[in-house]
Amino acid sequence: MRLSNCHNIDDFRRLAKARLPFPVFDYIDGAADDELTKARNTSAYDTVDLVPDVLAGVEDIDTSRVILGRKSALPLMLSPTAVQRAFHWQGETAVAKAAEKFGLWFGISSLATRSIEEIAALTKGPKLFQLYVHKDKGLNTSMIERCQASGFDALALTVDTIVSGKRERCLRSGFTTPPRFTPASMWSYATRPRWTLDYLLRDKFSLPNLDTHVAEGSSQAVSIAEYFNTMLDTSMDWETAAAIRQQWGGKFVLKGVMSANDARRAVEIGADAIMISNHGGRQLDGSRAPFDQLSEIVDAVGGEVEIICDGGVRRGTHALKAICSGATAASGGRLYLYALAAAGQEGVERALEVLKDEIHRGFRLMGVTRVEELNESRIRRRAF
Ligand code: FNR
Ligand code: LAC
Repeated sequence: MRLSNCHNIDDFRRLAKARLPFPVFDYIDGAADDELTKARNTSAYDTVDLVPDVLAGVEDIDTSRVILGRKSALPLMLSPTAVQRAFHWQGETAVAKAAEKFGLWFGISSLATRSIEEIAALTKGPKLFQLYVHKDKGLNTSMIERCQASGFDALALTVDTIVSGKRERCLRSGFTTPPRFTPASMWSYATRPRWTLDYLLRDKFSLPNLDTHVAEGSSQAVSIAEYFNTMLDTSMDWETAAAIRQQWGGKFVLKGVMSANDARRAVEIGADAIMISNHGGRQLDGSRAPFDQLSEIVDAVGGEVEIICDGGVRRGTHALKAICSGATAASGGRLYLYALAAAGQEGVERALEVLKDEIHRGFRLMGVTRVEELNESRIRRRAF
């Protein structure tokens, strides 16, 4: 299989599976417990049907939308994800450049493998920084101040990862950051020489936004679960979130909100946007899909805060359905991660081209020329 044969996100997934050592692939692809929520995040989109209008004059369409004060060419964002240089040697650089080229928002994780300053210097496009609140308060302040100094456009506080989800594929594979070869996985690394040579010979792996304060994850290999369970602050509460909102001062996103009540509280602490998200099914398995929660959250806080529907998006029509249901934008991680892992920047660009094409086609086949025309009147919910 080759990149030129990838015509949808699942194709990139298959290519990534062929090219990556299994512990790395399973870290990206895997989720918590029985992975029910991960599957549901995508299948939830099948419970709603689009109702097209015909003869609508769709020669000129404008798929852009303002998200968090910056124009986005599509109602779609690239969610922040960790340790991207473990997936492909280009890491966050590839995603930042591809996002800029397509005029899209992207985010880097606290566990990014490129520094806040490097990413800021690389792109003028809209970018957010995803904050994990650590026990080490000096580290939290340092990350916030570095984002302020570098001109990041938004800060997203992730609130669904107070402890790690039970990711059984990672328990079995022994995936760590930095990646380590174990007797059980050695064969897989040896038979993926392209990944393995890149990993061994290119820039040394590091987590440059954390390694000023903690060695774990950078020079000391730990599993992601160990990292979360030892480094992150389990006492984090609404007061903490409000204080971070104040300290940051800029556009503020609460990532991982799932209930209408919490969405209301997010508005009260002055969030500019919420990301309805269950972390791609990687945390609480059995948790509801973001798309299934969208309508009740829109009913509760629509118009007061931007609402981003994160997770499970694999098709342009999924983004259309989220917009029809009242979301400001759809967002996702794996929709670009499989492509990054399979083929670096070239891969991400091809994945974004596929999604852009699907969204543009979706507009025309729906008979709409502007994002605002996609509303609740254009969908029907199925009874099961
Ligand atoms: C993530 N996600 C994530 N979220 C976050 O706030 N900080 C992080 O460091 C990461 N890291 C991460 C790594 C990998 C490999 C994945 C797949 C996901 C979650 C991410 O932002 C987003 O919520 C999910 O990816 C959405 O689900 P889909 O789009 O992957 O189905
Ligand atoms: C994950 C992290 C790092 O989901 O957020 O693996």
